[in-house]
Amino acid sequence: MGWGHFMILFFLINLLQFLHPCFALPLCTDSRAPFTPNTHLQFCSYNGTTCCNSADDLHIRRQFQSINISDSACASLLKSILCARCDQFSAELYRVDSVPREVPVLCNSTITSNSTQSNQATNNFCSQVWNTCQNISMLNSPFASSLQGGVVPPNSNSTRLTDLWQSQSDFCDTFGGASDGESTCYSGEPVTLNNTSPPSPPSGICLEKIGNMSYLNMVAHPDGSNRAFFSNQQGKIWLATIPNQGSGQPLLLDESDAFLDLTDEVHFDTEFGMLGIAFHPRFTENGRFFVSFSCDKAKWPNCAGRCACNSDVNCDPSTLGPDNGAQPCQYQSVIAEYTVNGTSPQPSLATGANPSEVRRIFTMGLPFTSHHGGQILFGPRDGYLYFMMGDGGGVGDPYNFAQNKKSLLGKIMRFDIDNIPSGNEVSQLGSWGNYSIPKDNPFINDNESQKEIWALGLRNPWRCSFDSDRPSYFLCADVGQDQYEEVDLITKEGNYGWRAYEGHYSYTSPRSTGGNTSSGSIRPIFPVMGYNHSEVNLNEGSASITGGYMYRSMTDPCMHGRYLFADLYAGAIWGGSENPIDSGNFTSSKVAFNCARDSPLNCTFSPESSVPALSYIFSFGEDNNKDVFLLTNSGVYRIVRPSRCNYSCAKENASSVVSPGPASSLAPSKASFLRCSYEIFLILSAFLCLLLMNFV
Ligand SMILES: *[C@@H]1O[C@H](CO)[C@@H](O)[C@H](O)[C@H]1NC(C)=O
Ligand SMILES: *[C@@H]1O[C@H](CO)[C@@H](O)[C@H](O)[C@H]1NC(C)=O
Ligand SMILES: *[C@@H]1O[C@H](CO)[C@@H](O)[C@H](O)[C@H]1NC(C)=O
Ligand SMILES: *[C@@H]1O[C@H](CO)[C@@H](O)[C@H](O)[C@H]1NC(C)=O
Ligand SMILES: *[C@@H]1O[C@H](CO)[C@@H](O)[C@H](O)[C@H]1NC(C)=O
Ligand SMILES: *[C@@H]1O[C@H](CO)[C@@H](O)[C@H](O)[C@H]1NC(C)=O
Ligand SMILES: *[C@@H]1O[C@H](CO)[C@@H](O)[C@H](O)[C@H]1NC(C)=O
Ligand SMILES: *[C@@H]1O[C@H](CO)[C@@H](O)[C@H](O)[C@H]1NC(C)=O
Ligand SMILES: *[C@@H]1O[C@H](CO)[C@@H](O)[C@H](O)[C@H]1NC(C)=O
Ligand SMILES: *[C@@H]1O[C@H](CO)[C@@H](O)[C@H](O)[C@H]1NC(C)=O
Ligand SMILES: *[C@@H]1O[C@H](CO)[C@@H](O)[C@H](O)[C@H]1NC(C)=O
Ligand SMILES: *[C@@H]1O[C@H](CO)[C@@H](O)[C@H](O)[C@H]1NC(C)=O
Repeated sequence: MGWGHFMILFFLINLLQFLHPCFALPLCTDSRAPFTPNTHLQFCSYNGTTCCNSADDLHIRRQFQSINISDSACASLLKSILCARCDQFSAELYRVDSVPREVPVLCNSTITSNSTQSNQATNNFCSQVWNTCQNISMLNSPFASSLQGGVVPPNSNSTRLTDLWQSQSDFCDTFGGASDGESTCYSGEPVTLNNTSPPSPPSGICLEKIGNMSYLNMVAHPDGSNRAFFSNQQGKIWLATIPNQGSGQPLLLDESDAFLDLTDEVHFDTEFGMLGIAFHPRFTENGRFFVSFSCDKAKWPNCAGRCACNSDVNCDPSTLGPDNGAQPCQYQSVIAEYTVNGTSPQPSLATGANPSEVRRIFTMGLPFTSHHGGQILFGPRDGYLYFMMGDGGGVGDPYNFAQNKKSLLGKIMRFDIDNIPSGNEVSQLGSWGNYSIPKDNPFINDNESQKEIWALGLRNPWRCSFDSDRPSYFLCADVGQDQYEEVDLITKEGNYGWRAYEGHYSYTSPRSTGGNTSSGSIRPIFPVMGYNHSEVNLNEGSASITGGYMYRSMTDPCMHGRYLFADLYAGAIWGGSENPIDSGNFTSSKVAFNCARDSPLNCTFSPESSVPALSYIFSFGEDNNKDVFLLTNSGVYRIVRPSRCNYSCAKENASSVVSPGPASSLAPSKASFLRCSYEIFLILSAFLCLLLMNFV
């Protein structure tokens, strides 16, 4: 294999790892959240929220000096280009999910469509750079090292743009790009988004009841069909067909024929049970899927993992005492891998799974009987397995686990389950199971931290989801203690504050057995949405948030683009909208809801009422049509056309929504197609290159 082949292969592998350059929201090139530096940046004049600390700023200053530009006009443009690294939208400007860039995407003059950037006049920034800098010599030119494929080696000698590109259009083919509302480019100024007027709130959500059983999880079938997996807390998974809207039919599910039955292994109680299911991104080829559940060491010999209360985290299990009669670490949190029935010719055709565990991914003993999250999700961009874990219970996180990076409690973890090391390597890691650590996990090189951690400072993340249109939006609801229920935008290494903060409020734990973290010593990321306990009817004595989905269906166009969440006990539902779009600035308000008159199953308390008898809202689900479902104590409810409840939504008629029929393919929306077109372009060009290399 030649060097060229190697380069192309390297390029492809990189592409596969960083699929989807499709996102917005303020995010730095390493998927971290922007922050406010302690000291003003000396070189790059970014003030307010930025992606640079003073070390980054110094690094950029040195890079700028090493380029040694004589011309002051060009120097000032180049400085602004290098400093774009500090922009709070740098992830977007550098399109980091494709190929690492040295230079941000420079706004190109040819784009004339409505821009999300307020300053239309700067949209020809790329030609401005060319015109000003074309004849200027640069040492270590950042433009030269941006050339992929080794045309000019990085750190080459003095070059001018004209040495490398024939014309402005050549140059802007390489560096130019659009700012067309789907992606953002660098115009010489910090990125600003237009403040559009927020959409008017929806008049209400219309629900139909299609199932009468209580489930915790609903996961659309990875084959894109109109089927979904449902699992209950006791430990069964079913494969069900989702009826067309308007068909009057309920969920097609045979209760007596479970896809997988783990009720013998699962320990079921208030906060215990089968808590999460996730299907491998290539499930239709490999049939692999994963189940997160609780088990009881006293009842099942395979329920044996390390106790989360251990000497590494200054926790002596004997100090915990029994909690609800259970001994410390009697109950364990497990992720196990399963596979569809091996006799099926294709995983998509399987209607059952092999009941024996393929392998154990994770086992951890729990200190108390509450707050252990349990959801598992595959990242749509990276294909890694995310695992949500609460602080392990006790009022006020007595051992301060959520802020302790040596503990996995109160964290979101991220595992690579495609590269599972052999037994020896596992024990060397001192690991909690059988997986490897993705090399870009934030604490991979930090021996004082658990390398599994992706984000920290959570109390009990109860239902997270990725926005299906913008996979960088990873939204998690985190259950509060006394005052506030929150929704967080999860970023790499983000610290969401618990137990130093509860929402925006600073919090003091009544117990501090495990040491303290002062609120001043951490830089918490505050919630993007949430509600005070005073805003809900505390008929159960408490409030508890249930996170939902960014609604991306067009069934109810007035809900499109709103993040849905609920209170588990109070039966209240909120919709959060973002303004400006892509800013991460959300506002939420309660949304009314009703039962469709023609609901397939009886949905209401009484014949006179149109109010749904939801009872507890445990969870939400999303199918392959992007329709959203409520999973409640009383059954399964689907959000349907507002007119079926006599709610008015002007956009409903305009978009002439009809029953969408079975989803035969996962057709991406136009928006996400546009967002991803750059990626498609890269993949196509890589394949073209491969073809050329092989046949020339
Ligand atoms: C940022 O700096 C610019 C110029 O130095 C100044 O005009 C602007 O007011 C500053 N903004 C903030 C938020 O400090
Ligand atoms: C930087 O440029 C100046 C003139 O433009 C030149 O005298 C000097 O040698 C250059 N420095 C380096 C390190 O090349
Ligand atoms: C720009 O937006 C306006 C109003 O939203 C619309 O009427 C117009 O067609 C848009 N122009 C382009 C070029 O997309
Ligand atoms: C953004 O603001 C500019 C200037 O105010 C305006 O011309 C443009 O149409 C706006 N774009 C959008 C998408 O609203
Ligand atoms: C750059 O050099 C070319 C050819 O030497 C010349 O035509 C052009 O005017 C120069 N541009 C600038 C901005 O000096
Ligand atoms: C850079 O310049 C030095 C000295 O002029 C020369 O020896 C070297 O080959 C040059 N390197 C490249 C990559 O052109
Ligand atoms: C940028 O504009 C030039 C013409 O100035 C055009 O040839 C090129 O295709 C554009 N590039 C992109 C990425 O839009
Ligand atoms: C639940 O719904 C199914 C149809 O989905 C129906 O056959 C069954 O009788 C219902 N059970 C109860 C208790 O209503
Ligand atoms: C797998 O499927 C075959 C044929 O459908 C069936 O006979 C067998 O019992 C299934 N095995 C398991 C473990 O479900
Ligand atoms: C790792 O896998 C082995 C073999 O499946 C299993 O015995 C062990 O319990 C697993 N480790 C953990 C911590 O789950
Ligand atoms: C955030 O959204 C609210 C409501 O839509 C709006 O009033 C406010 O100006 C936005 N804040 C920013 C910083 O854009
Ligand atoms: C729906 O169920 C409620 C409570 O069980 C009952 O009172 C009501 O009559 C039912 N409505 C219909 C239309 O069957």
